[in-house]
Amino acid sequence: MKFFVDTAMLDEIRDLAEYGLLDGVTTNPSLIARSGRDFKETVAQICAMVDGPVSAEVAATDAPGMIAEGEVLAALAPNVVVKLPTTLDGLKACRHFAGQGIQTNLTLCFTANQALLVAKAGATYVSPFVGRLDDLNLDGMALIRDIRTIYDNFAFDTQILAASIRNANHISAAAIAGADVATAPAAVIRGLIRHPLTDAGLATFSADWAATGQSIL
Ligand code: E4P
Repeated sequence: MKFFVDTAMLDEIRDLAEYGLLDGVTTNPSLIARSGRDFKETVAQICAMVDGPVSAEVAATDAPGMIAEGEVLAALAPNVVVKLPTTLDGLKACRHFAGQGIQTNLTLCFTANQALLVAKAGATYVSPFVGRLDDLNLDGMALIRDIRTIYDNFAFDTQILAASIRNANHISAAAIAGADVATAPAAVIRGLIRHPLTDAGLATFSADWAATGQSIL
């Protein structure tokens, strides 16, 4: 499974890239607003730092506006993925970009039917929002499983990008459910390696090694 980091913060992206844990980046208007940075400049900088796909979301809600904005975003760098809302206008824009060979990420997907339409429109990625469904006491991971089944039934090549990932359990569950990609905050990705028994075991090994008085070098 590929990992994308869900952020507009360059230092977080740089840090994860150093661990080899980064396959791409997703941003959204809320993350850009939180960063306080210029949108297009930030996207161009991220694209220069990361080899993989970088999702940049349009602001327009009508198809002609999405197409116009998406073309500006796609021109920023070859690894830009135009992020579009999962609406009828979004499908129209998605079809347009698929015809141009420009990658798309259809965001704010909450049902299997939406995911079916997104795949038929030729999206590169669909982003089902797991955490926001869980917030409503619904089962976000069941949606990932349903989309996997539908895409496999019809051999759609749209990739399932599990989004709104909030914790480590979401990542492993998305991997088991067959998501192609998970996008998560940097802290969630970094936290996957941690286990108290790893820390305790390492502390014991270090103390026992020190007691031997030996040196490997
Ligand atoms: C994905 O592309 C979204 O930017 C993101 O995963 C949303 O996460 P949230 O529901 O935690 O805001």
